[in-house]
Amino acid sequence: MWEKKPILLMILATAAILTGTIVTMVLPFFWVNTEADRIEYVTPYTPLEQEGRDIYMREGCNNCHTQTVRPLVAEVLRYGDYSKSGEFVYDRPFLWGSKRTGSDLARLGGKYPDAWHYQHMADPRSIFPRTNMPAYGWLSDNPLNPDMIRRKMRVLGFPYTEEQIDELASKNEMDAIIAYMQKLGNDIPWRQTARTEIVGELRNPYPDPDQATLESWQPLYQSNCSACHGANMEGGIGPELVGDVYDEETLFRLIYDGIPENGMPAYANLGSDRVWQLVNLIKHHQPNGN
Ligand code: HEC
Ligand code: HEC
Repeated sequence: MWEKKPILLMILATAAILTGTIVTMVLPFFWVNTEADRIEYVTPYTPLEQEGRDIYMREGCNNCHTQTVRPLVAEVLRYGDYSKSGEFVYDRPFLWGSKRTGSDLARLGGKYPDAWHYQHMADPRSIFPRTNMPAYGWLSDNPLNPDMIRRKMRVLGFPYTEEQIDELASKNEMDAIIAYMQKLGNDIPWRQTARTEIVGELRNPYPDPDQATLESWQPLYQSNCSACHGANMEGGIGPELVGDVYDEETLFRLIYDGIPENGMPAYANLGSDRVWQLVNLIKHHQPNGN
């Protein structure tokens, strides 16, 4: 019967839509981005990082990479602790993104050493042979413009020192974007708390693998480790791997937990069986290549 009273219907419809708008759009302003959301450890970007962020946007990295880990088990296992609203207070604009052609980068900071990033940006396929990520080596040829950055920092209201601005004169766009990537998601100390506990006794399930078995594990090393430790464990970004330096249990823990603060990622996500295969590969490796 309302449909016969157009004025009343219009008023009721407007009221319904307004109520919905207020509940879903206006009210959240009062409970997000308040002081309570701030995380004490999250700091503003330095001039170098902020410049890197602008280059990241200019190059459209966010067309292929997201920057938010959703609170879902699979995401947390793959990328690390889920994103908190307080981590984005200095992001203007935020770069959560919606397309993951590449992986999520919200927890990238500290995952790899700087040297890894320089190599990956110059030649992504030297690390991920089948990636479709373009090469960005030319960023190294573009120097930064300190005056422009000083103006940006003022507009954003971020603290900076003249010393930081002076340092920019010797930096290029590649240095900036890598400084930015090393900052991403690294503000809250989640890596230390995320360490997986190894329960029970550690025992090598493959006490004496033969040559053919060792060879069948080789692809596991090539796809996870060779980018940093060399195709033949001879070293590169990471050190040469020498089997008899550590006992098996120490090697297992080194690979399983990584040494994140020094650029050696943790490989708990491979599962302990595969980590043992890697331990055996390193133990049985002959440095002269046979
Ligand atoms: C055309 C899509 C595309 C664009 C554009 C792109 N990437 Fe990627 N990127 C990828 C893919 C795909 C991978 C994953 C490679 C793999 O895991 O095999 C990747 C991987 C990465 C990784 C390694 C992530 C990890 O945790 O291992 C970083 C860092 C990265 N990209 C940074 C950037 C930056 C910075 C830019 C912009 C300058 C950029 N990417 C632009 C597709 C892209
Ligand atoms: C992103 C680069 C990177 C990748 C990928 C990587 N590592 Fe490392 N790794 C390092 C760095 C850097 C160190 C040195 C850490 C330190 O100095 O404390 C290291 C140290 C080690 C060590 C200790 C070596 C020593 O002599 O102290 C072992 C063992 C090791 N890695 C095994 C592996 C294995 C197995 C893989 C593949 C599953 C792997 N790493 C993948 C960078 C990497």
